[in-house]
Amino acid sequence: MKDKNQKSAISRRNFIKGFGGGIVGTAAVTSSFAKGEGKQAGPHGSMVRGPGKVKISLQVNGKNHSLEVEPRTSLLDAMRDQLGYTGTKRVCNRGECGACTVIMNGKAMLSCGIFAMDADGAKIETVEGLATGEKLHPLQEAFVKHDALQCGFCTSGFLMSSVALFAKKSFAKSR
Ligand code: FES
Repeated sequence: MKDKNQKSAISRRNFIKGFGGGIVGTAAVTSSFAKGEGKQAGPHGSMVRGPGKVKISLQVNGKNHSLEVEPRTSLLDAMRDQLGYTGTKRVCNRGECGACTVIMNGKAMLSCGIFAMDADGAKIETVEGLATGEKLHPLQEAFVKHDALQCGFCTSGFLMSSVALFAKKSFAKSR
């Protein structure tokens, strides 16, 4: 019985020592993160960004933008709240409705489901970039002609999805 208690006490001590080391290690990492944005090497050599604001650049409809975003900021919120591209709508905000669809690097994407920092350096097309001056994009004209607007709030998402779909189709034909 004595041996068992002794064994148990040793393993408890080892556990507490290990746990204490874990706390010290966590505190060191946390305090270094808390100093600001910072980029640090992560476990497998990947770079860790945040938790402070992170500098990113986006090219939206051919125009370059530099901005700072919190790591939790979605691409949708960054474009609407910081860059003023309000044509892209926030409806469900959880990747279900498609109202926030933009074309990112040639693919239709739900901007509410992408962290802005993950879009760093991306080329983004929004509904504001479809028309050329007063001349509507052919799909915009078709939507008007065939009254495809429904209530109109998520039309920009429909348009961007359609533009990406037709671009994909014409790409497929040209191969
Ligand atoms: Fe509904 Fe993004 S807002 S999918």
